[in-house]
Amino acid sequence: MAQIETPRELFVHKLGAALTMEEAILGMLEELEQEANDPRLKQNLRHHHQETEQQVRNLERAFEALGEEVESQPCPTIDGLKKEGEQMLKNVEDELNDAVILSGIVETEAHEIAVYDGLITTAEAMGEEDIVALFQENLEQEQATLKKGRDAKKQLARREAQRV
Ligand SMILES: [Fe+2]
Repeated sequence: MAQIETPRELFVHKLGAALTMEEAILGMLEELEQEANDPRLKQNLRHHHQETEQQVRNLERAFEALGEEVESQPCPTIDGLKKEGEQMLKNVEDELNDAVILSGIVETEAHEIAVYDGLITTAEAMGEEDIVALFQENLEQEQATLKKGRDAKKQLARREAQRV
């Protein structure tokens, strides 16, 4: 018999995968801060690390609001993004680290936004307004981080294009 039998169980499973995603991102942000060259990028990574700690707490609160035990579930997507970023950083000259990091941020935030979008859709349909508000807070932080990452990537790409 399948492990997940009801839409609610599926929702709780997705919540557990989101928790794994955010916890993995905490570690990734620490690694990337070490690898970044631009002090402003380092600072932005540190800032998003603080936000991500709050996001983890919001997800834990969502479990509690549902009356469920906090339980992580596998999230192979984030493992893949992490692996790709690490391989790229190994393969590039140090001066290209920021370009690799900014691509990783944009790709990761786009995925996170899709995850919260899905969780919000289901929580809204379930009438779980408190949980929607928690996800919404996380979603807005991801959207702001994506925008910052895209803007920085655009600026860096323009500077690099002049060097080619
Ligand atoms: Fe996040």
